[in-house]
Amino acid sequence: MDHELLSSVPIFAELDRADIDGLAKLAARRRYPKDGVVFFENEEGSSFFMIVEGRIKVTILGDDGREIILSVLSSGDFFGEMALLDNEPRSATAIAVEDSELLVLNRSDFESAVADNSRVMQALIRTLTARLRKANHQISTLALLDVYGRVARVILEMAREDGRRLRDGSIAFRRATHQEIANRIGTTRETVTRMLKDLQRQGLIHVEGREIVLQPDFERVFD
Ligand code: CMP
Repeated sequence: MDHELLSSVPIFAELDRADIDGLAKLAARRRYPKDGVVFFENEEGSSFFMIVEGRIKVTILGDDGREIILSVLSSGDFFGEMALLDNEPRSATAIAVEDSELLVLNRSDFESAVADNSRVMQALIRTLTARLRKANHQISTLALLDVYGRVARVILEMAREDGRRLRDGSIAFRRATHQEIANRIGTTRETVTRMLKDLQRQGLIHVEGREIVLQPDFERVFD
């Protein structure tokens, strides 16, 4: 295993030459073809992986059996640390999305690399923190999307309940206050205002006097 390869992996980049050489002797190089599975979610894990070349997608199965991609990692990134750190099964499946080359460390070599080098530990924590930040961001976006869908649906309901259909297929209905809409779906007035502005920007609704008009596209998108 050559020295250059390991020093190109960011978590090991700051190690001194002797440490890298030591690790290089322990790491194995493994190739995965496109679509090759590195491991499956829920398997027991005993190795840590670094990507030398290629891309690896990290996925989980949703309740409805659909694949959810958590991340696509590329050269210089690592994965497979979680099962080693908490002794739980693999939290996700790892699959090569193109021909890839990985470096593999077994559990005890990974543990000593982390325990013996505070820089490796720091780099590991930094990366995990960045992943948590990204995941938090995704959670907030998803929560927002959910509210967005609920705002749209409640508007459609109101329009159908007491609106009138215009000749071009759009529906005009009495403008409810943002607070009223917010109360119907358990969110804040500010959120409703933001969503309505966005719907206007997309041309899906517009305000005419005391009425809101839903464009025909609105029903196609949100029904
Ligand atoms: P492990 O649980 O051992 O196996 C799956 C790996 O996918 C996990 O370790 C992490 O390395 C990686 N992983 C899990 N969740 C994420 C995420 N949200 N972003 C990036 N990588 C992840």
